[in-house]
Amino acid sequence: MSQAATLQAALVKERRDIQSQEQRAVLDSIPKDLNRPWEDPVPDAGGRCIAQELRGAGLSARSMPEWKKEAYGKAVTFGQRSSLSLQEQRQSLPIYRLKNELIEAVHRNLVLVVIGETGSGKTTQVTQYLAEAGYTAGGKIACTQPRRVAAESVAKRVAEESGCRLGEEVGYCIRFDDRTGPDTVIKYMTDGMLLREIMVDRNLSGYSVIMLDEAHERTIYTDILFGLLKKLIRRRDDLKLIVTSATLDAEKFSGYFFDCNIFTIPGRTFPVEILYAKQPQSDYMDSALRTVLEIHMSEPEGDILLFLTGQEEIDHACSYLHEKMQALGKDAPDLLIYAAYGALPSEMQSKIFEPTPPGKRKVVVATNIAEASITIDGIYYVVDPGFAKVNVYNPKRGLDSLVITPISQASAKQRAGRAGRTGPGKCYRLYTESAYRNEMPPTSTPEIQRINLGWTVLNMKAMGINELGAFGFMDPPAPQALISAMEQLYSLGALDEEGLLTKLGKKMAEFPQEPPLSKMLLASVDLGCSDEIVTIIAMIQTGNVFYRPREKQTQADRKRGNFFQPEGDHITLLTVYQAWKAKQFSGPWCVENFLQISSLRRAQDVRKQLLEIMDRYRLDVVSAGNDLTKVRRAITAGFFFNTARKDPQGGGYRTLADNQQVYIHPSSALFHQQPQWVIYNEIVMTSKEYMREVTAISPAWLVELAPRFYKSIDLAKMSKRKRQERLEPLHDRYNEPNSWRLSKRHG
Ligand code: CDP
Ligand code: MG
Repeated sequence: MSQAATLQAALVKERRDIQSQEQRAVLDSIPKDLNRPWEDPVPDAGGRCIAQELRGAGLSARSMPEWKKEAYGKAVTFGQRSSLSLQEQRQSLPIYRLKNELIEAVHRNLVLVVIGETGSGKTTQVTQYLAEAGYTAGGKIACTQPRRVAAESVAKRVAEESGCRLGEEVGYCIRFDDRTGPDTVIKYMTDGMLLREIMVDRNLSGYSVIMLDEAHERTIYTDILFGLLKKLIRRRDDLKLIVTSATLDAEKFSGYFFDCNIFTIPGRTFPVEILYAKQPQSDYMDSALRTVLEIHMSEPEGDILLFLTGQEEIDHACSYLHEKMQALGKDAPDLLIYAAYGALPSEMQSKIFEPTPPGKRKVVVATNIAEASITIDGIYYVVDPGFAKVNVYNPKRGLDSLVITPISQASAKQRAGRAGRTGPGKCYRLYTESAYRNEMPPTSTPEIQRINLGWTVLNMKAMGINELGAFGFMDPPAPQALISAMEQLYSLGALDEEGLLTKLGKKMAEFPQEPPLSKMLLASVDLGCSDEIVTIIAMIQTGNVFYRPREKQTQADRKRGNFFQPEGDHITLLTVYQAWKAKQFSGPWCVENFLQISSLRRAQDVRKQLLEIMDRYRLDVVSAGNDLTKVRRAITAGFFFNTARKDPQGGGYRTLADNQQVYIHPSSALFHQQPQWVIYNEIVMTSKEYMREVTAISPAWLVELAPRFYKSIDLAKMSKRKRQERLEPLHDRYNEPNSWRLSKRHG
C-alpha cells in the first residue's frame, strides 16, 4: 500500500472509533466530501519526511510525543509551557545561549543583521539584553514592527517579562495610540511611527539603538527608514542599528548596509510534513474548513493554525466552526476557536497565546499576521490556502485596493514552519505542488513596488527630499509609479506645477493618513464642516462598525437601517457616532443597536488625535449644523478620484477614472436609492466589485473642487455618443496642460 493509502485507511478506522453515527451525519453534511484531497507527504526543501522516519522507528503517528522524546532527548510536552516561569521561558529560547555573543557583536558593529527562525526570541529578547548591557544610558532602544498588533502584543509581553507595567520602562507607540511614559527605555513601535519621528528629528537623538524588526516584510516605511538610517549612521557613530529578518534576505540587507556582519541564531525547529492538494481547490474557504474539522476529528492532539485573508473570512470561518462543533455534540473532543487579525480588541488577542488545556484542542484562524509577527506556541498543524490580502496600487484609479493574491514560496515556507515550533508538525497546503513550484513567485514584491506612493512622495517632499530617484532605495520604485503619485498629489493641490510642495501639501503631510483623507480634512476647514469630517475620517478608519451575527442578521440589519441617511454612508457613519455620543458613549446602547463598541472606541481615539493635530496647527473645528451639503462637498474635495456614475445599461455604475463596472454594496444606505452620481471610499471585490462607503454628489462639484482633475467639456466639441449620455464633466486628465509632468517626461 502507498503511504497515502495507509494513512487513509488508518484515518478511516480512527474515525470509526471516535465518531458516533450522529457525528458522522454532521461531518457528512459538510459541503462536498471529506475525502482527503492530499497527495503523499513530500519533504520540503531542508525538511524531512516524518512519515518515513516514523515507520523507521516503528512508531505510529499517534505516539508523536514519545517519538519526539527519543529524537530530541528533552521532550517539550503539551501544556508544559504554562508551568514554566517567565524567566525559565526566556532561558529556554534559542537566543539565550548566544546572549553574550550577541551583545558583543552589537558592541563591535555599527550595523548588524540578525537572522533566526521565528520564535527564537529576537523581538522580545534583543531589546532586553541590550538594556541590561547598558545601552539605555545613552538613549532609548526602539524596536519597529510592521504591524500595530505585533507592537502592542510584544510590548505587553516584554513588560511582563521585565516585571514592569506597560508604559513604564517598556511601552509601545502605534498610530493613534501612544503607551509610553517618561521612564520608557524600550519602545516598541510601528515602523510608520519611527518614520514620523525621524521626520521631526532627523538625528533621532533620543535613541541609542534602532532595531528594524521583521525587515523581510519590506513595508514601505521600513524601506524608507533603510534609506534614511543608512545616511544617519554616517552622521551618528554612537547609534546602533540592528536589522532583523526571519528569512533569506540577510545577504541583501548586509550588502545594502556596507556589507555589515550577519549574526545567525541557530533555530530549534522540528521537521514539518508537507501535504499538497491533489488538484486545484475551487473554493479555498470550503476546503480549509473541511481540513480543519478533519484534523480535529482524526489527528493526535496539537493546535491548528489556519491562514485566511481578512476579518470577514475569519469571522465567517469561526462561526461556521462553532456551528459544526455544536452539531457534533458533546462526544466530539473540545475545540477552542480563536480569531487573530489586526482589528481585534486586545483582550481577545492575548487569549490566543494562552496554552490550551490538556485534552482540548485550539484552532487559531488568522491573517498573515501569524506568519511571522506573532508566535503562538503549541501549533502542530498549519492549514495554508495559499492566499493573502495585500495592498495593490491601481494606477488608473489612483488609489490602492486590497486584493486577495497568491502568496510567495517564501511565505508558504514561513507558514509551514509555524507547525514545527513545538514538535514535528504537518502543513496542509490547499494548492497543488505544481502550483507551488511553478506559479508562486519565490518572494513577495516589496510594498514600495506595489502600492500607491502618494503618501510616500508627500512625506519625502516634506522632509526636503526632492530628488526621489536619487534617494538610494534598496529596491527603487518604478519611475512611472513616482510620476503617477506626483500626478495624484498635483490633482489634490499638494504639489505645484514644478512638483514642489505647496502650502496645502505641507499641511497635508502633518496628518498620519493617506493624502485624499488629509485633503478632505483641510477642505472641510475652509468649507466650515471640519467637526463632521473629523468624525467621518475617524469612523472610516476604524474598520467595521456594524455588527452582524449570523443568527440575528435580520434584526441587525433593521437596527442598521435605522441609522441610514439619504445622503449616503459617510453621513450615516456620522449619525451613528453622534447618536453614540448623545448616549454618553454607552456600551449597552451599542449592544442594543448591533454596533461594535471596540470600533467606536477606536474612532473616538482617532478623533481625539486628529483634533490634537488640528489644534497644533490652529485649524478651526467648525460644525456645519444642518447643512450636510458642505460635508458632501468636503468629501468630494478629497475623494474625487473615486467617482462613479450610474450606468444606463445594466444595474450598476461606471467609474469615471477608468470606466470600470462597479456596484453599490447591498449593505449601503444608498442601495435602494441608487443616485446618479456617487463618491466611494474604496472598492472591495467579493462576488462583484462593490463600492464601500458611498455618498451621493452633484457632478458640478467635481469641476469646482477638483479643477486639476475634471473640467466641463464644451458641448459643441462633444461626440454624439457622449452627448447622448449627457455627460457633463469629463475626466480629462491626460489632455490637461501640465508642464512639470511634461518636463519630467522629456527632460
Ligand atoms: O522575534 P522572534 O520571532 O524571534 O521571537 P519572539 O517574538 O521574541 O518570541 C519568543 C517567545 O516569546 C515565543 O516563544 C513566543 O511564544 C513568546 N511570546 C509570547 O508569549 N507573547 C508574545 N506577545 C510574544 C512572544
Ligand atoms: Mg519577531
